[in-house]
Amino acid sequence: MLETYIGLDLGTSGLRALLVDADGVALGSAEAACSVSHPQAGWAEQVPADWIAACETAFAELRAAQPEGFAAVRGIAAAGHMHGAVLLDEQDRVLRPCILWNDTRSHAEAADLDAIAEVRALSGNIVFPGFTAPKLKWVAAHEPDVFAQVAKVLLPKDYLNLWLCGGHVGDMSDAAGTSWLDVAKRDWSDALLGHGNMRRDQMPELVEGSAKAGLIRPELAKSLGLQQGVVIAGGGGDNAVAACGVGALQEGDGFVSLGTSGVLLAARDRFAPMPDTAVHSFCHAVPDRWYQMGVILAATDSLNWLSRQVGQRPADLAGALPDQIDAPGRVRFLPYLSGERTPHNDSAVRGAFLNLDISGGPADLTRAVMEGVAFALRDSLEALKATGARLDRFLAIGGGMQSPYWIELCATVLDLPLDVPARGEFGAAMGAARLAQCAATGADPEEIMTRPEIARTVMPRAEWVGAYEDAYRAWRAAYPAIRDLG
Ligand code: XUL
Repeated sequence: MLETYIGLDLGTSGLRALLVDADGVALGSAEAACSVSHPQAGWAEQVPADWIAACETAFAELRAAQPEGFAAVRGIAAAGHMHGAVLLDEQDRVLRPCILWNDTRSHAEAADLDAIAEVRALSGNIVFPGFTAPKLKWVAAHEPDVFAQVAKVLLPKDYLNLWLCGGHVGDMSDAAGTSWLDVAKRDWSDALLGHGNMRRDQMPELVEGSAKAGLIRPELAKSLGLQQGVVIAGGGGDNAVAACGVGALQEGDGFVSLGTSGVLLAARDRFAPMPDTAVHSFCHAVPDRWYQMGVILAATDSLNWLSRQVGQRPADLAGALPDQIDAPGRVRFLPYLSGERTPHNDSAVRGAFLNLDISGGPADLTRAVMEGVAFALRDSLEALKATGARLDRFLAIGGGMQSPYWIELCATVLDLPLDVPARGEFGAAMGAARLAQCAATGADPEEIMTRPEIARTVMPRAEWVGAYEDAYRAWRAAYPAIRDLG
């Protein structure tokens, strides 16, 4: 009998729903866009009702395209962009738009919380301005009427869980990015909540990402055309769930992702925080595992920015470069368009081009942008190395890796082989579908979360490794030089 699962991936620019069968074969997918508003410089917000509308659109599309597979759904799980604060009143009404992960308005509150020694000790992380706890401190200071009504704070995918199963249920991988979780114990910390003027009763109940959060609300099942009793899993933060999608669970597994943000992620079988490096140390979406990652805020976002300035599509900019790298360019780019997390934890710094030449053109800028992003990822690699994570090779994922030039550049700058998965489904939506399957059937995550088939391995270009090492060192010297110029 056909049994299927749906994985939802709530990204910053839209929602993706993926229908898979019990062997992990994708049967169909649907997408719906979501917009971000920027009411002030450095602010980023979304309206949670738009996520639900996006879910309804995606579910309806899947149902129309795959009626049989849709009727056979047994489990659903959601991955979501992390750190956002959905504030609910006693009646579960949304009190204000969700403040997103890349919103830096609460940098002063973040610095205050980060200065309390116990906060890094228990949460295992720097309190970055994008994290959830400083957002609530900002709301308390600037919107006291809203703050007084906050009965629950949910992360974005927890809000989808509420819509799906009617309960306030979150998971440890997402909760780890709030600065309210004791990340070693995988539980809310009353001490951390206290520092943020919050209470445990304002938090959702926590389950593991691969465990059951509840059953689908009967009336929702009816309106969506799903069978009754569909299991809703805890789900998880997008990077943890993407790691489930590529089977990165064990020490030594990891990926480098060129998406809106850039991520270098290493799975860990123990919690080994090192906040001073600005590496993030979070719970994985499966029990008894953690992961560490360096996060750069503008990866493909840097190329998207350049594309808007020169009026050419990002793919055309990338396509104008050769497939193979050459010596490093002269022009340098610092990709700090939205500030930076790893390794600088600097929300005030902004991007820069250096060494612009009268003879230069768009291709020089594209190359500089790609190099700047690769160098920033190298900074994250150095930070991850300091934590003792095993880093032999990485999977290369994310939209930016479609550029042969950019991927060879990353392999060479990181001096690591990069495995490129064969075309197919392996992202956060697939990871979420796998969590759904575990929650619905009780299957062991290790058996379900296998590695994708590798199409090819991109090796560092040995003849250029030294030249890029020198270029990286020169690039590194630019940050302290420009930091205080603005
Ligand atoms: C992770 C982070 C981003 C968001 C958006 O800490 O902020 O990766 O989850 O994707």
